[in-house]
Amino acid sequence: MRSHYCGQVDTQLLDQTVTLCGWVHRRRDHGGVIFIDLRDREGLVQVVFDPDTEEAFAHAEKVRNEFVLRVTGRVRRRPEGTENTDIRTGEIEVLGKQLEILNAAETPPFQIDDEDVHEDVRLRYRYIDLRRPEMQARFKLRHRVTSAMRRYLDDNGFMDIETPMLTKATPEGARDYLVPSRTHNGNFFALPQSPQLFKQLLMMSGMDRYYQIVRCFRDEDLRADRQPEFTQLDMELSFVDEQTLRDVMENMVRYVFKQVMDVDLSEKFQVMPFDEAIRRYGSDKPDLRNPLELIDIADLLSSVEFKVFAGPAKDPKGRVAALLVPGGNSALTRKQIDDYTKFVGIYGAKGLAYIKVNDTSKGREGLQSPIMKFLPDDAVNGILERTGAKDGDLIFFGADKASVVNESLGALRLKLGEDLNLVEDGWRILWVTDFPMFEWDDKEKRWSAMHHPFTAPNTDDIEALKADPGKALSRGYDMVLNGSEIGGGSIRIHDPQIQAAVFEMLGIGDEEAREKFGFLLDALKYGCPPHGGMAFGLDRFVMLMAGASSIRDVIAFPKTQTASCLLTSAPSVASDAQLRELGIRLKVKQAEKE
Ligand code: AMO
Ligand code: AMP
Repeated sequence: MRSHYCGQVDTQLLDQTVTLCGWVHRRRDHGGVIFIDLRDREGLVQVVFDPDTEEAFAHAEKVRNEFVLRVTGRVRRRPEGTENTDIRTGEIEVLGKQLEILNAAETPPFQIDDEDVHEDVRLRYRYIDLRRPEMQARFKLRHRVTSAMRRYLDDNGFMDIETPMLTKATPEGARDYLVPSRTHNGNFFALPQSPQLFKQLLMMSGMDRYYQIVRCFRDEDLRADRQPEFTQLDMELSFVDEQTLRDVMENMVRYVFKQVMDVDLSEKFQVMPFDEAIRRYGSDKPDLRNPLELIDIADLLSSVEFKVFAGPAKDPKGRVAALLVPGGNSALTRKQIDDYTKFVGIYGAKGLAYIKVNDTSKGREGLQSPIMKFLPDDAVNGILERTGAKDGDLIFFGADKASVVNESLGALRLKLGEDLNLVEDGWRILWVTDFPMFEWDDKEKRWSAMHHPFTAPNTDDIEALKADPGKALSRGYDMVLNGSEIGGGSIRIHDPQIQAAVFEMLGIGDEEAREKFGFLLDALKYGCPPHGGMAFGLDRFVMLMAGASSIRDVIAFPKTQTASCLLTSAPSVASDAQLRELGIRLKVKQAEKE
């Protein structure tokens, strides 16, 4: 139907006849001459119709935005002064000879180049939204990313193997999406939260190196970087240790960045233990483009009278930390400080003490702070010295349970970085390692796995593990890019006894372990190689590369914050007949709900 893409017509085709297909981006009537910007996947081209070509001109008069056209015409140079150097087709135009309207279009609900359309409208008419050049660019990028990933993995001995979607629960920490079984009434499949167990079984099957670009399903609270169904680049390798595994992953990420963006990532990715990440940044996914750091000061404050500080300073589970904001004294108004106090409140902080450093040569007189009266000289001097505060700086303080201080000051650090424009350009990538094996779940009053229950502890000594679960470290690792967790993985447990012990410590009794993971425990007994792997969140990866602010912008048909699809109106009711076949009776009739 066509000879070229619209966006690819340039001066090389001068004086040639081309046939183009595409959508009417804009139509302008210039007193006798009609200009149509015709758009396709590759870009826009200007087509001119003059009244001399009567039939084509008559058609051109009828077309409206988003009509689908086929145009034949001659490529010619644009008149001097009307070139557009921003686009490939900017030096030429096509003098239209024939115009065929392939399809008309109703007035679209929004203009393609309107930047200010509500996301609900964009999602409802996603097929129009996806026509926008920005969206087209994002999906081209996504495709280039996956194709580079595949190329790298193919070249490095990985096999693409599919795993089931109708399966049993995989514990990755979220709720499952369940699918009722018609042939086994009362029983349910779970959609996979990840292919974790199957990829481990594939290692036990001798596949050696596996990968899959695979959909995962998690019914969890949604955010800008979380969707109920999302895509992982999932991988597993046999007979490797952490170092080999991380090298392979690093090389792949480096290859993808180079191929897709021509970006050279650092030669070796920084490796940071979890402890250090929390101590310095209050987060296990630190954004290293932001120079601010948390500084511990509990030892300076354990004997002050101010209980707000002394309490957490003396408590082993407490933390007292400072956040120095260079130049913050003049950069931040009283109102902003009040706003930040409210902001840290979201994370449970009960206040946000601060010191404005006006003039250190004047001693206490040169400092301004609501807590000055509570702090003796040696504490104040200690704080100034440790933080390295200079005249004009501002120091914020957090004192509470360690988790509250980490979360609140960690978030404040990011917010200040943005508000004060402290975030450097570029790509900062690192490994976070040495995660705790277990986390105490205060609600459930039991230990839970920080990664997942198949992650190997960094010791084979079961007794030592049981003696102090809170101290145990795992062989898990995350990859963090510009403050976003883009991937995670671990060396796995390959010894059935250790796996059983870990289940036990997680409060999963023998019976439950058999019922849920009996197939894995069995498989571990029949010759399981040491193995490990990792999964990248493909949507997050592409979102960062595209500079998008939500993963919805790099997913063709995403769900809303409440996990529904505005385009298809899913989820929707099932018919009585379907429910009957599935052996399901609803407690709340749909009509009552609405
Ligand atoms: P994990 O649960 O860390 O590990 O998931 C791997 C990566 O997937 C991305 N991700 C998500 N992206 C969008 N929406 C979500 N709801 C969502 N949840 C996770 C993140 C994350 O780093 N089986 C293990 C991997 C392994 O051990 O090999 C797993 O699934 O970027
Ligand atoms: P107060 O004595 O409660 O008025 O608090 C004095 C100052 O300490 C105020 O600036 C509070 O914002 C701050 N503050 C109170 N609790 C905390 C806390 N847990 N961490 C940091 N600052 C706090």
